[in-house]
Amino acid sequence: MTMKKSRMVLEPEFQIAEVDNRIYGSFIEHLGRAVYEGIYEPDHPLANEDGFRMDVVELVKELQVPIVRYPGGNFVSGYNWEDGVGPKEVRKRRLELAWRTIETNQVGTNEFADWAKLVNSEVMMAVNLGTRGVDAARNLVEYCNHPSGTYWSDLRVSHGYREPHKIKTWCLGNEMDGPWQIGHKTADEYGRVALEAAKVMKWVDPSIDLVLCGSSGTQMPTFPQWEATVLDHAYDHVDYISLHRYYGNRDGDTANFLASSLDMEQFIHTVVSTCDYIKAKKRSNKTVNLSFDEWNVWFHSNEADTKIEPWSIAPPQLEDIYTMEDALVVGSMLITLLKHADRVKIACLAQLVNVIAPIMTTAGGGAWKQTIYYPYLHASRYGRGRVLNPLISSPKYDSKDFTDVPVLDSTAVFNEEKQELTIFAVNRDMVDALQLECDVRSFDGYQVVEHIVLEHEDIKARNTHDEPNRVVPHNRGSAKANDGSLECVLPKLSWNVIRLRKK
Ligand code: AHR
Repeated sequence: MTMKKSRMVLEPEFQIAEVDNRIYGSFIEHLGRAVYEGIYEPDHPLANEDGFRMDVVELVKELQVPIVRYPGGNFVSGYNWEDGVGPKEVRKRRLELAWRTIETNQVGTNEFADWAKLVNSEVMMAVNLGTRGVDAARNLVEYCNHPSGTYWSDLRVSHGYREPHKIKTWCLGNEMDGPWQIGHKTADEYGRVALEAAKVMKWVDPSIDLVLCGSSGTQMPTFPQWEATVLDHAYDHVDYISLHRYYGNRDGDTANFLASSLDMEQFIHTVVSTCDYIKAKKRSNKTVNLSFDEWNVWFHSNEADTKIEPWSIAPPQLEDIYTMEDALVVGSMLITLLKHADRVKIACLAQLVNVIAPIMTTAGGGAWKQTIYYPYLHASRYGRGRVLNPLISSPKYDSKDFTDVPVLDSTAVFNEEKQELTIFAVNRDMVDALQLECDVRSFDGYQVVEHIVLEHEDIKARNTHDEPNRVVPHNRGSAKANDGSLECVLPKLSWNVIRLRKK
């Protein structure tokens, strides 16, 4: 039997854009065990003097996460940031209405800034435009970024932080289009308040960048009119618009689930077009780019979450345990972000620890890596440079929601400085391996350094606390380059990273 074939032509001149490294960002929300028992557990044997788990810090550092969104998510829309600063012993415990828990406020703005330093990340701070507004938002910018000599900046100094945090990127609320949001707004209501908050936040610190809330998914009935309306209000004062999207395999239809990134692709196209429509309408010279600041697979924990006792502290919420199949979807989502590197400048895998996360922890115990950790690690580590625009031919299939789904999902990143070329590829075929022949004639002298493969004979295989290494990558892939041609076999249902370097 002959093997299915795919082909790819790579030319260094055919480029999409330089990758903005912030597309490898992530997200920590005050939700479930992300903060408490996740990054912060003062009684843990591996906690540092500030209570941060150093085993988790090491795993996050390995991922090289450039930016982390904080403190929410839905949480931020009911959050009083003032509750989370100053002496810990007098911080207020609050009913947290977004996730129906109790928030102890033992971690807040300053602690999170400290943690971000530990993991070599920038903070992407969200302000509350649900229950609060312009005043709380501008005060928080002053507290974080103003050097000193004013009420809010001196308050920060009095809390032990002489140097300002210099937070560059700020989100103007979260998912304000969603009826589940505390203080949900219509597009006009949100557009107005976002514009006014944006204006004064930039008056406090003109160096900041602002992210306007787009739709919380393509499934929203207000999408994409929401984007058009809010941009019409705030276009001149913002730098990015947000996109959020989660996928799941609720019907057990793997072929369809594996094609989810085609929806993500369409989402990006629609938001880019809407931004550019408003740009044209306003005769503006400025381009608003995209911040895909929540993306992932999320569905495994939905049922369990309905059984959580309300008003507990840091319960195990949204603790999806990911399969091999989920790792492939995450791989395809990463490839999709790369393919749109010309407009997607920030992206956050939601989330980072315990809550729909690549890293899991046990209270008092160890930390382990989920299946999705690996595509995220590989893309973040090797996907820095210029994204190429390869010519790809691949067999295709149809699924319940998609037609012409390419079996080969792939892109490549060229790092000229390091003289490295990396091909990322998912073989979506459920039955067969796929032969890939790649024309790399223009990469004279480049040889395969390694071909990493993530695969498993059981597509539903997961890592767990007891079996953390059930799904791990190996580097026994078959890629070989010879005379300007690279050949390899991509195993069925596999994530592949083919790394070449000039010898
Ligand atoms: O990431 C989990 C939740 O998903 C976030 O709080 C919210 O913004 C989104 O609906």
